[in-house]
Amino acid sequence: MEREIHNIVILTGAGISAESGVATFRGPDGLWEGHRVEDVATPEAFERDPVLVQKFYDERRAKLKTVHPNPAHQALAKLDAAWGGDLLLVTQNVDDLHDRAGSKRLLHMHGELNSAWCLNCDARSGVSHPLSHHPACPHCKQPALRPDIVWFGEMPYQMERIELALAQCDLFVSIGTSGAVYPAAGFVQSARHYGAQTLEMNLDPSEGSLYFHESRMGKAGELVPVWVEEMLK
Ligand code: OAD
Repeated sequence: MEREIHNIVILTGAGISAESGVATFRGPDGLWEGHRVEDVATPEAFERDPVLVQKFYDERRAKLKTVHPNPAHQALAKLDAAWGGDLLLVTQNVDDLHDRAGSKRLLHMHGELNSAWCLNCDARSGVSHPLSHHPACPHCKQPALRPDIVWFGEMPYQMERIELALAQCDLFVSIGTSGAVYPAAGFVQSARHYGAQTLEMNLDPSEGSLYFHESRMGKAGELVPVWVEEMLK
């Protein structure tokens, strides 16, 4: 017998922001097509060429000002506001479109473009100037800010909280992610291990598609609002 759904964990990836005009990572027009991951998304790259890395993230941060949440972000915010059980939206995205749509029970496991991390005093702060201009940290006044982004080889944020939510959820939903990057790609197997139902919504089957009980293929902006209405019925 299918268990009743009280607790939901939702994982989102770049595909949910694609219809807003934010580039995804993989595929023909993907961000990683124009750059080698090793050149812009590792601590070693930052040590080697900090200006190149800061400019890459400065450009992506500037782009955020030109894009808006789409119906998929909005539908998830509506679900968050209305859902009486536990709900955790875990995004791999470093854009702020879930935040702007109004999602509250939200966690950015790969960091945020609008946040800076001071390598001198360890404080986090909002970003008001391009980091390639070497602004001072508002806390210690040193020009030691790096993007608050989880790079390859670094540990994603709040993994303990995520693992606990996966163990307690009745439904795990993955939206707009290729399933190519761990640990996020393994969440479906963790959730299933603990007995959750699993649903994937993506443009095409992800690398872990076979682990999902149900797969819905199509655009997030069309699929997610329909699914949210089903959940709120
Ligand atoms: P990817 O670019 O790897 O995958 C995006 C997925 O979204 C693909 O499977 C597309 O088919 C799908 N997609 C594209 N448009 C869509 C749409 N309109 N509706 C639904 N799905 C759509 O992006 P992620 O899986 O998010 O990590 O990548 C995971 C991580 O890899 C990122 O967080 C980033 C990257 O390296 C870090 O920077 C640490």
